[in-house]
Amino acid sequence: PLTGQMRPLRASRIQEKQKSCGMRLVMESALTARDRVGVQDFVLLENYNSEAAFIENLRRRFRENLIYTYIGSVLVSVNPYKELEIYSKPQMERYRGVSFYEISPHIYAVSDNTYRAMRTERKDQCILISGESGAGKTEASKKILLYYAVTCPTNDHMAALGDRLLQSNPVLEAFGNAKTLRNDNSSRFGKYMDVQFDFRGAPVGGHILNYLLEKSRVVHQNHGERNFHIFYQLLDGGEDDLLITLDLERNPQKYQYLVKGNCPRLSSVSDKNNWKVVMKALPVIGFTEEEVQKLLNIIASVLHLGNTQFGEGEEGETYITTETQIHHLSKLMGVDGSALGEALTHKKLTAKGEEMISPLSFEQALSARDALAKAVYGRTFTWLVEKINQSLALKVHSKGSSVIGLLDIYGFEVLQHNSFEQFCINYCNEKLQQLFIELTLRSEQEEYETEGIAWETVQYFDNKIICDLIEEKHKGIISILDEECLRPGETCDVSFLEKLEDALGGHPHFVTHKLANGKTRRVMSREEFRLLHYAGEVNYNVNGFLDKNNDSLNRNLKEVMCQSDNQILQHCFRREEVIDQKRPEMAATQFKNSLMKLMEILMSKEPSYVRCIKPNDAKQPGRFDEVLVRHQVKYLGLMENLRVRRAGFAYRRRFEAFLQRYKPLCPETWPNWHGRLSDGVSTLVSHLGYKPEEYKLGRSKIFIRFPKTLFTTEDALEAKKPEIGCLGVLYMHVCVCVVIVIQSGWRGMKARRRAKRRRQAAELIRRFIKGFIYRHEEYCPENEYFLDHVRYSFLKNLRQNLPKSVLDKNWPTPPPLVAEASEHLRRMHMRNMTLKYCRRVQPEWKKQMMQKVEASKIFKDQKDSYPQSVGRLFLDSRLEREQINLKVVQTLGNDKVQYGVSVIKYDRRGFKPRPRQLLLTNTFAVLVDRTKIKQRMDYSAMRGISVSSLSDGVFVVHMPSEDNKQKGDVVLHCSHVIELVTKLAMMANKVSYVNISPGSIRFAVARGKEGIIDFVRGSELKVAKGKRGHLLVVSQRLY
Ligand SMILES: Nc1ncnc2c1ncn2[C@@H]1O[C@H](COP(=O)(O)OP(=O)(O)O)[C@@H](O)[C@H]1O
Ligand SMILES: [Mg+2]
Repeated sequence: PLTGQMRPLRASRIQEKQKSCGMRLVMESALTARDRVGVQDFVLLENYNSEAAFIENLRRRFRENLIYTYIGSVLVSVNPYKELEIYSKPQMERYRGVSFYEISPHIYAVSDNTYRAMRTERKDQCILISGESGAGKTEASKKILLYYAVTCPTNDHMAALGDRLLQSNPVLEAFGNAKTLRNDNSSRFGKYMDVQFDFRGAPVGGHILNYLLEKSRVVHQNHGERNFHIFYQLLDGGEDDLLITLDLERNPQKYQYLVKGNCPRLSSVSDKNNWKVVMKALPVIGFTEEEVQKLLNIIASVLHLGNTQFGEGEEGETYITTETQIHHLSKLMGVDGSALGEALTHKKLTAKGEEMISPLSFEQALSARDALAKAVYGRTFTWLVEKINQSLALKVHSKGSSVIGLLDIYGFEVLQHNSFEQFCINYCNEKLQQLFIELTLRSEQEEYETEGIAWETVQYFDNKIICDLIEEKHKGIISILDEECLRPGETCDVSFLEKLEDALGGHPHFVTHKLANGKTRRVMSREEFRLLHYAGEVNYNVNGFLDKNNDSLNRNLKEVMCQSDNQILQHCFRREEVIDQKRPEMAATQFKNSLMKLMEILMSKEPSYVRCIKPNDAKQPGRFDEVLVRHQVKYLGLMENLRVRRAGFAYRRRFEAFLQRYKPLCPETWPNWHGRLSDGVSTLVSHLGYKPEEYKLGRSKIFIRFPKTLFTTEDALEAKKPEIGCLGVLYMHVCVCVVIVIQSGWRGMKARRRAKRRRQAAELIRRFIKGFIYRHEEYCPENEYFLDHVRYSFLKNLRQNLPKSVLDKNWPTPPPLVAEASEHLRRMHMRNMTLKYCRRVQPEWKKQMMQKVEASKIFKDQKDSYPQSVGRLFLDSRLEREQINLKVVQTLGNDKVQYGVSVIKYDRRGFKPRPRQLLLTNTFAVLVDRTKIKQRMDYSAMRGISVSSLSDGVFVVHMPSEDNKQKGDVVLHCSHVIELVTKLAMMANKVSYVNISPGSIRFAVARGKEGIIDFVRGSELKVAKGKRGHLLVVSQRLY
């Protein structure tokens, strides 16, 4: 029914968001629909007394991967055993600042709610995470930390704190977690962590308290279990050099302390990768290189201790058989080897004020060795936690800081064989249950009483009786255990059991084999005692209880360790401990005391709860083992929890807080209520339409029975927020007025601007159309805009499409209007480009070009062979220097040869061909026959040059015949006729005197006679005497 009522409100909120993120909305609404499998809050369960309905709801949600469900403000979490896509940053954002009940249950909602409660109520908070081993407690605590690290504001000083908080996790897990049958990464110590926040809500410090590390694991592991991760990480991930310095081998099977569980590797965990993570994290949380080295020395020495073996001599004396191990140990622990060997095989006693040394038996030596290993590892772990605490410590004192505590502590444990450790763990869980009862059930009931509200009493099991059974002074199990440990004379585990029977026989929660009835006897061994915990019955085997409680280390071993030069060991084994004769506290008592302190810490804070449930024992995703879950639901007290929630009121607040928050929802209470607080609340809720069965008014608080009532009120407030802001009404009115004025002014201005722009646009379009109609008319007011536009467009287009090189002949076609201008521009552009081109031309090339230009002027379209010559470069000379006879050069003297070429000279009569060289100087040309200059032709006297229009190389140089020196016209043939004639004409400055004759050339023969050369086209070049005494030149046809 409730979800139905919430829907419209939620929908309206979603619509608001819709504008900004349409895509997300689709996803979210799908998500919300999916989230409605079963009920999100057990309080809404129809049949809230039925355990079956409870479990069915868990199962239905689990099947849809909805692992979180509320019981009021308690979060129930079922381990999915697979990665879910619900922990991303956008998910964090989704939960940030959103009302608890508004959105699907999540660990982030608890995190956020706790954080906001801390901020708004300025009260320290704690989140208690409980559940059995493998239920997901540690994962939950990590998610909470991550949520804070990502979403909280950061403080400049402590920017790296979040990082350090997160990095401390892998380190603690490496040293304090191990694979057990239940959990591949089981925390073997209890952890309470405080995160401190400054007044702005930025995390600024942290502190960790550790509880009872399971040290026995260092020397022994059950089948299928492992020692602490760090040993395997070191062996798998450590570099070769490191292992050599630590005298270690890579194979874990070589180490006695690692082979007991017969499980060196884990499929789910990569030791090598985790090693890298740990080694990276250590410097981040403030470990120096030296400290890391010392730490690893200790880890290695624990392994070497495990391999230290003893032998038994003929007279029963014990000696060490593995001297190399002692050597390694002495090096790594920085202790004296022989003293260590002595201390491992002897013990020091003080009797009647005298010190005595007595040898240890073989078994005693083994247990002394194991005790040392446990002590070294356990104390090093404590040192590690202290070290992390230093790194997390609040560096700058921050005023008004508050704290959120996270408790991740071993859950209730029932194994096949339960020993001292399980006893302590289960005791701890009894205490936590007691705290839960204290803080929720009883305090709830008491509160109703003090508020004068009647309610039906909820029947719940108060486990105080079990706590007392364990911890009561002089009478409790712990006291009896301590007594037995201290009692002089022969003591053993069995005598302890007898003492228990004597003192506790008849207690309703305590049974032993002897005290039990026949049925129970059958399932108990003689060495066991059974406690009836609030969560169920557990049999504890007394074997080892005394030893573990004693946790003693021979004094001479302590002495040796005190003298270590390893700083960490120095810190762990204090001199005072050896000198101090007072017996240290027994392990169980120590644990009891630390639990008491923890309870005090937790009591002073506002608690939230995360209850973790393990769906199956096989660590498999998607499997929901009903029997297993029912058991957990029972001992977590979830049904009781639900009953209380439903019987009582889901929500309560002091009048002033309630009124302060919700007063804007009622005109009478807004902005201030001046009467009595209870009257104000009363007026407010009647205005809101609360029905009498939905709420009660106590002496100082209002109690609201159903969450839905509160949701509706919260939503109404949310809807009202934009209107009210957080200002007083007057201020608000003023603001509203100002806003309205500004708004209307602004809107008016915007509207006017828009209208003006629209008008302008319309006008423009009209002019354009008119211009188009008149476009062929003379330039006039009707078409001026259009024509300007055409011109402008053409020029703009032209600018972008100008030809880029002289050879590019493209030019945009101009509209008729600008044809003339376009032509001008084209020429200018071309000239410009040519000029630019010419400027870049080298002198050599320039000369070539000039000659080519002249050749073009003379021959272009005149002579057949001209086009062929265009592509060929004119050479400076066709004769090498040595081809010209030295005598000729001498004869020429100062007139240097500028160009030379081989030619054939035809006699004017008879046309006999004679090979000659034609040399050009600056002022004349000469015809040379080897060493002799046969004819000199002065340029000044030259009358012209004739060539045919065909492709032959024949040409005539016309010279005056009357001048004897010049000897008259010369008929020549040259294969480079275009080049030669061009050069000759240019040098003689007679370009215009070159004459191109199509059919024939007439030339002067001496004394007024004429010769004729006829030109015809033929298949191949031929120069020969023809008809009528003419010279016939057959030119090759060019195709
Ligand atoms: N929320 C979760 N999502 C995915 N896997 C989880 C989640 N919680 C727990 N697990 C899985 O269960 C294992 C045991 O969880 P853990 O928190 O170590 O248990 P506990 O601390 O209660 O003993 C984890 O190593 C992880 O594989
Ligand atoms: Mg854990």
